[in-house]
Amino acid sequence: MTAALFSETSPALVKKHLSPDLYQQLRHLKTRSGFTLEKAIRSGIRNPDSSIGIYAGDAESYQVFSPVFDPIIREYHHFPKGTAHVSDFTAPDLPPADPDGKYILSTRIRVARNLKGYEFSPQISLSHRKEMEETVIKAMATLKGDLGGEYMSLKNMENPAQPVNSDILVFTKGDRFQDAAGINSGFPEGRGVFYSLDRRLMVWVNEEDHLRIMSLEKTSDLSAAFKRLGRALRSLETRLDFAWDKTYGYLTSCPTNLGTAMRAGVHIRLGKLDRNREILNRLAREYHLQIRGTRGEKTKVQEAVFDISNAQRLGITETAILQNLHKGIAALIKAEEHL
Ligand code: ADP
Ligand code: ARG
Repeated sequence: MTAALFSETSPALVKKHLSPDLYQQLRHLKTRSGFTLEKAIRSGIRNPDSSIGIYAGDAESYQVFSPVFDPIIREYHHFPKGTAHVSDFTAPDLPPADPDGKYILSTRIRVARNLKGYEFSPQISLSHRKEMEETVIKAMATLKGDLGGEYMSLKNMENPAQPVNSDILVFTKGDRFQDAAGINSGFPEGRGVFYSLDRRLMVWVNEEDHLRIMSLEKTSDLSAAFKRLGRALRSLETRLDFAWDKTYGYLTSCPTNLGTAMRAGVHIRLGKLDRNREILNRLAREYHLQIRGTRGEKTKVQEAVFDISNAQRLGITETAILQNLHKGIAALIKAEEHL
């Protein structure tokens, strides 16, 4: 049955872990919001090049469909059975990763958050999406000092696509993976971007998760970006209740983001490593780094500008992610200089 559902060549983890028997066992189940296995795996079916191929429609999906989610999560995150995720947002004092600004163009740290009680992006109705947006707008309006800013609804924007280095990072309609998962439904209704007046804090509302909260620096100062993000989170947490699970940490629509839901990264120009990809890939493996293209996930590297970030999100603290990233970047810069 699953062989017929997924393309024969699909590398997706969902294809590996959803056996025909398991498919039969889970196909008639539903969460209280009506999320089904069919909805969870539609993106993996329609996109044979998916690497994971499954999304959660709500917090309950991780329990109802746990026989398929659990092995995928354990394999993707190297997360052993019986462990529980622990969060620690203590800011380490790290020196700038590239003090002379020779390689690093900018730093961005984001976390994904979803509000307790609302369906996740693949399942939420338009009315719930708008209601949730209102709740979040009110919470963000209470951010003070350098965190204070404005909310821009995507509905009012003529052309939401913006170049990567513009001051406000705006998201567009999701890619074909998100589209097949149902994440684009009603776009751009209920979506928007909050930005602080200094453009260093931004919040994407109703992209792949309810919130993508991000802190940006035009330097390599990871600690400064992390501290700002921590302050914003502590303030928002006084008004918003985020979905959290004692095993999987912060719950997200895609299982790849579970745990810290954090991606801390830099845009870094590595001309020599660009021409020596085997060295770059070896170092990335060794330091648990993820390499993305210049304009984000599944995009190309332009003019040797890589997006280098943490590969681990679950079973590791936020503090440790930042420390590891700092070490990894130092190793990349050293290799670049030695080549
Ligand atoms: P996410 O990080 O939310 O999973 P993407 O990989 O698509 O998703 O990145 C989101 C956006 O952030 C993209 O437009 C990407 O170019 C931008 N971005 C990522 N890292 C940086 C950085 N260090 N500096 C500036 N912009 C960045
Ligand atoms: N669903 C896609 C896949 O399986 C993307 C997974 C990770 N990316 C994400 N934005 N959630 O390849």
